[in-house]
Amino acid sequence: MPRALFTAAVLLGTSLSLAAPALAKTAYDGVWLFDEAPPTPGVTMMQVTSKGGKIEGTVTTQWYGPVEMLNPRVEDGALKFDTRNINDREHPTRPWSVAIEGGKAHLKGRIWESEVDASGYRGNTKDARARAFKFSPPLPALGAPIPSKLAATPPMGWSSWNKFAEHIDDKTVRAMADAMVSTGLRDAGYLYVNIDDGWQGKRGADGVLQPNEKFPDMKALTDYVHSRGLKIGIYSSQGPRTCAGYEGSYGHVMQDAQTYADWGFDYLKYDLCSGEWFYDEAATVKRSYYEMGAALQATGRDFIFSLCEYGRFDVGSWGRDVGGQLWRTTGDITDDYPTMAKIGFDKNGKPEWAGPHGFNDPDMLEIGNGGMSADEYRTHMTLWAMSAAPLMMGHDLRESTPETLAMLTNPRVIAVDQDAKGVQAKALRKHGTMEVWAKPLADGRVALALFNRGDAASSLALVPGDAGLTAVTQVQDVWSGTKSAKLPASYTVPARGAVMVVVGD
Ligand code: GLA
Repeated sequence: MPRALFTAAVLLGTSLSLAAPALAKTAYDGVWLFDEAPPTPGVTMMQVTSKGGKIEGTVTTQWYGPVEMLNPRVEDGALKFDTRNINDREHPTRPWSVAIEGGKAHLKGRIWESEVDASGYRGNTKDARARAFKFSPPLPALGAPIPSKLAATPPMGWSSWNKFAEHIDDKTVRAMADAMVSTGLRDAGYLYVNIDDGWQGKRGADGVLQPNEKFPDMKALTDYVHSRGLKIGIYSSQGPRTCAGYEGSYGHVMQDAQTYADWGFDYLKYDLCSGEWFYDEAATVKRSYYEMGAALQATGRDFIFSLCEYGRFDVGSWGRDVGGQLWRTTGDITDDYPTMAKIGFDKNGKPEWAGPHGFNDPDMLEIGNGGMSADEYRTHMTLWAMSAAPLMMGHDLRESTPETLAMLTNPRVIAVDQDAKGVQAKALRKHGTMEVWAKPLADGRVALALFNRGDAASSLALVPGDAGLTAVTQVQDVWSGTKSAKLPASYTVPARGAVMVVVGD
């Protein structure tokens, strides 16, 4: 369905089906209703019309709204068509088919990661009107950049997603807040306790989103977390559905921002999932984030605004203007070295966009989740600190081992990450499997990291020139704290390991 037709339908306040002639021309013509299709993408209806031998149609979904049938045709006793498949570069479209069996329409297809195999029955134009996707009003135009006094240094905290995914509840969030305090993580600088996807319930008749039964009282929860000297975050998407299939903020942006403020939240992660079908170019994606950034600002409450759109459209170049203090630069991290290394070394965002009040976000930490060796986790933490990346822990804090706590709370490592200059390190040089990275610090010294990306130990010298100096008279090993007056002849770095020093002249 051409975009102009969608828009016209919205403007006229009518359902798409009303625009089409009622006369059925093929066995597939008409309105088909689906009550039990898989929740993702949540097919609710199919509409087919044919006129002069030309077939048109849509499959209405809860995730993406009406999905247009591309090249619909009757072939081999079935209606065949393709749909757009936005997130998948290898398969920009996907084939679908409809077979009429026993008076029912059997719809089969795939979109993004979801298979559809569902049976629909005949409905009428009244049903079509009732099930028509409700488009939200056009996005507001961009206004003045939204100023922020928050996040002078990269935000630090914990998020539920990496460990708990959707299996998160009030009790666990409280337990994490308690553990942040009892383990010393709060005092080391970790401040935010963030609920990721999976807290959402249904909207009331007034449109206000309620939490699901796992979160009986959001205000009581935020009060509790605040009482522990911490701040608390929440999660949504600008699409109709979040990435895990929960209710998104589509059509309710102002209202949701106000709800988060009323509940007492301090941080919002806003994830493009399902929104990419509505906002699929730089201008609309930016405006969709601006819409929420402005809505948060209008509440009068301070929010950290975390943009999660996987680095599309050079997000760092406009993330601050929409009110963001951090913006994801990649797809999701997983708890294994190859993924962590791919993200941390190669997809951590353009350093030129990072600085006080705005940081590239290569995703949350996996330290403590058990999928990497101690050396690999040390590389993870070193890379994130050198990159001035947000430090959002992602493990069960109650199960932190002494080694995990020591790694996450090392004050010198945190000081590199949190340095007031806010510079994101760059790779200066590469030798075989070794990489040298440098990060100038606010006090004039320079943090240098030596990474070994290979599978065997390797040695390399650091030289004053790596720090832009002619001579080095003070060297501190960041991980151990050991000080010396000169750089050693060379460093031996274990396989997939890292060394980090701060040097000065
Ligand atoms: C996306 C994000 C993740 C997480 C999930 C939740 O995949 O990138 O960080 O928030 O959604 O569904």
